Amino acid sequence: MKGLHIKATGRCLPKKILTNDDLSRMVDTNDEWITTRTGIKQRHICDGERNIDLAIGAATRALEKAAVRPEEIGALVVTTFTPDYYTPAVACLLAKALGLSHDIPAFDMNAACSGFLYALQVANGLLLQEERPYALIVGSEVISKTTDWSDRSTCVLFGDVAGAALVERREVGAFCTALGCDGNAVPLYCGGAGDEDRFIRMDGGEVFKFAVRIIPQTVEALLQKSGLTLADIDYFVCHQANKRIIDSAAKKLKAPQEKFFINLDRYGNTSSASIPIALDEMGEAGLLKPGVKTLCVGFGAGFTWGGAILEW
Ligand code: UT7
Repeated sequence: MKGLHIKATGRCLPKKILTNDDLSRMVDTNDEWITTRTGIKQRHICDGERNIDLAIGAATRALEKAAVRPEEIGALVVTTFTPDYYTPAVACLLAKALGLSHDIPAFDMNAACSGFLYALQVANGLLLQEERPYALIVGSEVISKTTDWSDRSTCVLFGDVAGAALVERREVGAFCTALGCDGNAVPLYCGGAGDEDRFIRMDGGEVFKFAVRIIPQTVEALLQKSGLTLADIDYFVCHQANKRIIDSAAKKLKAPQEKFFINLDRYGNTSSASIPIALDEMGEAGLLKPGVKTLCVGFGAGFTWGGAILEW
């Protein structure tokens, strides 16, 4: 299976941390509710940092780890639903900050929390040339600015962060993706252009039901497409929204829970950044040795969903 390979990852966290106890002094909530219902203990929140600042931090780290020069990058894709401006795109500012060549595409895309999976497929479709064999994907989110800090049903869930992945085409190694969208915009949306309510609004129960249905479906679709079995997958990396969602997906799939990586306790739900930062932490923990196969699944507003099998 010829396709993408992740050469290096990076992440950038805002310095400020909001714990569950901090939130309990802002709204009618408590650590016990948040922990048992979601698994989240704390989240990083921007305090002056912009989306572009996080994106630069994560991308720079990935380039340093890979020892790849900016002029070797053939495409830049930023996934976000919380850019600094409607236009220019975060990617344009990032391309300039990193000193990328002017003759490559650099653009933002929004597939909500599925963004990183969509971006993998997009990067795979871009024509990378011999002299510029790498694509840079950055999931960068400042969700705190779209958060209604008086709404306890949403403000305890999200966090800000950026994660980056430097990818290249490879002749060998597993790679396949599965993407989808059903257009159900009611249970989860965030206003903006011309909308008086610019905050995230969510029917948590509806999103929960969708998530526990779509994760196993996407896993099955990827296994069927790739010809691999559940046992061939070393780690499952789900979008980090709620530990109970990940646990029930593991149970439905009859897959061992310890194969499901979890870091939402420290970050909360970081939308399109959640999978690249998870991969970055897994890499640092020494879990992603050559030959290891990861299966990533994301789901989010739209509803969108996406999955990818990646071999390390
Ligand atoms: O990135 C993709 C998008 N997001 C998701 O994947 C989120 C999916 N959904 C979820 O993770 C869960 O539905 C939530 C964590 C959002 C909510 O958990 P739940 O078990 O579905 O709780 P609920 O919304 O049914 O609320 C249960 C109770 C309610 O009180 P009553 O009506 O039973 O008296 C809520 O008002 O918990 C109350 N509640 C809270 N209590 C304390 C809601 N938020 C809070 C809170 N602290 N922060």
